[in-house]
Amino acid sequence: MKEPNLMEKLNGKKINTAVFISGRGSNLRSLINHSKKKNSPILIKLVISDNQKAKGLIYSKQSKIKKYIINFKKKKNSEKKLLKELHNHEINLICLAGFMKILSKNFIKKFKNPILNIHPSLLPKYKGLNTHERVVKNKEKYSGSTVHIVSPKLDSGKIILQKKIKISKFENKKTLEKKILKIEHQLYYKAIIKFLFSL
Ligand code: GRF
Repeated sequence: MKEPNLMEKLNGKKINTAVFISGRGSNLRSLINHSKKKNSPILIKLVISDNQKAKGLIYSKQSKIKKYIINFKKKKNSEKKLLKELHNHEINLICLAGFMKILSKNFIKKFKNPILNIHPSLLPKYKGLNTHERVVKNKEKYSGSTVHIVSPKLDSGKIILQKKIKISKFENKKTLEKKILKIEHQLYYKAIIKFLFSL
């Protein structure tokens, strides 16, 4: 018998998704574009930002996706309100895409649905910030990007998909960032599909 495809598996229902950003939002833009494909299993219903000036908010506006701004200075209270907002929109998947704040253990536990993140290195190497700078400084031969499940420990949850690229002799942090962003714009969506198939 033929294996059911993802949409059959989901009974034709799309996964309501929220994307969290803090800045430029190029990964958000690519996820929105992928989600508009006819057979996409995800529907981006909400864009969350801790920064009301995030450039990426232009993409939610263009696609008429609701935005929700959170103030992470009052983290406990904000996360409580955020959980309510996610619940009201029946969100069952969160994708962090350049979200610069750390979600609390309590939030991750209470959300009860999967939270994914994209990190611009070959995890478990180079967790944390300033990845490209550190990679170039250490004269690494390869770098890449990783999509993983978010766990309470930073950049440490189960890896879903990883893509490796070769670093040239003349690489600097800017050229490396550009190269990696380009692969991320395909990798994140591919990883989401892989993850949903594995459920
Ligand atoms: C990406 O490189 C992503 O891996 C990291 O932050 C960057 C966000 O870029 N977590 P953008 O805001 O999606 O353009």
